[in-house]
Amino acid sequence: MRPRAPNNNRHAAQRTVPCAPDTKTKEIIIVKGLTITKTEHPKAKPAKGAKLGFGSVFTDHMLLMDYTRGQGWHDARIVPYGPISLSPAATVFHYAQETFEGMKAYRAEDGRILLFRPEENFKRLNISNERLCIPALDVDFCIESLKELVMLDKDWIPEDKEASLYIRPFVIGNEAKLGVKEADNYIYCVLLSPSGAYYENGLKPVPIYVEEEYVRAVRGGTGFAKTGGNYASSMKAQSIAHEKGYSQVLWLDGVEKKYIGEVGAMNIFFVVDGEVLTPELDGSILSGITRKSIIALLRDKGYKVTERKITIQEIADAYDAGKLQEIFGSGTAAVISPVGELKWGDKVMKINNGEIGEISMYAYKTLTDIQWGRAKGPEGWSVEIGRE
Ligand code: PLP
Ligand code: COI
Repeated sequence: MRPRAPNNNRHAAQRTVPCAPDTKTKEIIIVKGLTITKTEHPKAKPAKGAKLGFGSVFTDHMLLMDYTRGQGWHDARIVPYGPISLSPAATVFHYAQETFEGMKAYRAEDGRILLFRPEENFKRLNISNERLCIPALDVDFCIESLKELVMLDKDWIPEDKEASLYIRPFVIGNEAKLGVKEADNYIYCVLLSPSGAYYENGLKPVPIYVEEEYVRAVRGGTGFAKTGGNYASSMKAQSIAHEKGYSQVLWLDGVEKKYIGEVGAMNIFFVVDGEVLTPELDGSILSGITRKSIIALLRDKGYKVTERKITIQEIADAYDAGKLQEIFGSGTAAVISPVGELKWGDKVMKINNGEIGEISMYAYKTLTDIQWGRAKGPEGWSVEIGRE
């Protein structure tokens, strides 16, 4: 069933932006326009300085597009934010055919509205889609339509320092059929959520423990894809970690439980004897855009950064030898999350006296300066989409 925009927009003003290529035939022809229906009932925006937290406030509009096998992606439209109507038999509810992305729009001090490497997110969405048998989206169209959506709701981008507009594109299987088979219908949707500074009181190193019972992903599975099932299966370990007073878990590989994977829903970095180490992308790890950016920035600064298999044993040995200097997670939401304590069985490793390390701080500052437009950064990373 096609999602319906809420009724309150029936008489709202519409305008059309021609920009959707036909992804089915791969021809670069304009087959559909992007219809924009503005809300007639704008919501009250959060006050400056309000505690926004993460992902619980949504803007006035959202983007929707449908896919029908044989027709391709069609009916791209920006509509007032509101519920969508789905059949209870929709594939997403039963077999979790879903993919998503996470990115941000930033307001620079001089009023520019910026995205950070948006092409990387949409390329990754297609990698996830391929794994979940979901049809590919046209990356250029996703970026162009996102710019329209963000600029329409630009007044929702928080002005507070280090706050941003979190962007959540996602795709769901929407065929009303209980057979275990990829759907013939899909919905692409993009939500915008003003989110507060991740660290209200500065970057605080967090305690983490090494998860030895549950696993997040296995090679050959879906670890490299951003799909809801990975997160559903990680919640139990996360909830136990919270009960025990830890922020998150460090995931080990799903076969030997020997090699380090990710930390919670972030990639992980170690600094050992001056060298920066991060697990190689072996199919069970999400290729983080923050990870990729940090590797490039640190190498550019002259640090040795190595992507390889890392065992938890060698990290414990490095600790015993006094060579484990820093640990940090990386991801869009937090940028950098320093680890202050790592617990592996009975062994408790205190990292850098519970303080943020020099390389972690350098990565955080350099990357956030680029994202918020305070520094230029490599060509193409920061994409200006308009002004206040
Ligand atoms: N790993 C997982 C499982 C994630 O969900 C995320 C968050 O998006 C990351 C890593 C970090 O990826 P990125 O830096 O692209 O946000
Ligand atoms: C991140 O952006 O760092 C994340 O981990 C995304 C999460 C909210 C799923």
